[in-house]
Amino acid sequence: MEKLTVDLKDRSYPIYIGEKLNAGELIREALPKVHTVLVVSNETIAPLYLKSLQESLEQQGFSVHACILKDGEKYKKVESYMQVLTAALEAGLSRDGAMLALGGGVVGDITGFAASTYQRGIAFVQVPTTLLAMVDSSVGGKTAINHDLGKNMIGTFYQPRCVVADIDTLRTLPEREVAAGLAEVIKYGIIYDRAFFEYLRERQESLLHPSPEVLTSIVRRCCEIKALVVSEDEQEHGLRAILNLGHTFGHAIEAECGFGTYLHGEAVAIGMVIACRYALTQGALSKDEVRAVEELLKACHLPVASPAGMDSDAYLKHMHHDKKVRDGHVVYVLPEKMGQCRTFKVSDEEMGEFLKKNICVG
Ligand code: NAD
Ligand code: GLY
Repeated sequence: MEKLTVDLKDRSYPIYIGEKLNAGELIREALPKVHTVLVVSNETIAPLYLKSLQESLEQQGFSVHACILKDGEKYKKVESYMQVLTAALEAGLSRDGAMLALGGGVVGDITGFAASTYQRGIAFVQVPTTLLAMVDSSVGGKTAINHDLGKNMIGTFYQPRCVVADIDTLRTLPEREVAAGLAEVIKYGIIYDRAFFEYLRERQESLLHPSPEVLTSIVRRCCEIKALVVSEDEQEHGLRAILNLGHTFGHAIEAECGFGTYLHGEAVAIGMVIACRYALTQGALSKDEVRAVEELLKACHLPVASPAGMDSDAYLKHMHHDKKVRDGHVVYVLPEKMGQCRTFKVSDEEMGEFLKKNICVG
């Protein structure tokens, strides 16, 4: 088992990564005084993993209640959040109880938001079961639900007490979801670690079916980078924005095509290609580097082309709803070189021209 720490002074917390983890024991260590917990999961994940988590928690003396949400990004909304709060009240959860998120990023984001607001905030723990949640959403304390007018528009920064990433759970994850997680994995190479990008390229033919050793080492490296970034800039006043490479374009694609048409990771994959091609026009990346990014994404069965018929106006319209808009300007995360990114303001005229010439077809 690997143990990393997100260093946030008195709110620091461990991330455990490994196979066949004793979740109950690790969660007991993080929540020594808690008696009652509400496990939030969904109708797909609960039949697979709730029983074993519940038994492991009960062995540690926890009294366990469960709240099972509907499955899907389209349920990441206020009704599901209310369902969690109702379940917490019905379970008699008090301020010294805790919520546990057993699932992917959708369950994790809703549960974190519910925990941060229930009785002004109670403890919570992330038990991620998707690759994307293990390498990204379970770490760092961003919580959210969607609004009809925008993704993740309602949320908080609220850190978990620990993260328990058991890579055994990934055995049941559909291949398309593994691929979506790999998009975020590749992101870490582009934004922070050129050597990690090369490590992924060397294994690109087998990344969709990695050995447990490779998977553990991938999850560990991503969590190390995320923990470093979050420890330095918890609330995204600067550095943390680099974690959003490809997300501004990706969110526009998700909104234009309807949430759920593209998985989050798939939209981010296309968004990263757009960001890298823009970087090419600025001389920040070479043609070979952009080709390497596209080949790696394709090898992971990820899309790299902008949705047919999505024009530059559609991108710009959605990108103006982004949380990174400053003084009316969209702020983009763009590579400065392979393994390093930062934010840039780009005018609508310039971005519109680039998109028309280089990205939008049909
Ligand atoms: P998800 O939570 O929808 O899970 C993907 C699918 O896999 C779902 O159908 C789920 O039921 C199923 N599933 C989960 N674990 C499984 C398992 N072990 N076996 C079989 N099926 C399983 O999607 P996701 O990709 O995990 O997360 C995407 C969400 O995360 C988006 O809402 C995104 O906005 C959010 N996100 C948040 C952050 C953050 O920092 N908070 C970062 C990145 C993404
Ligand atoms: N996924 C982006 C962040 O956590 O900041």
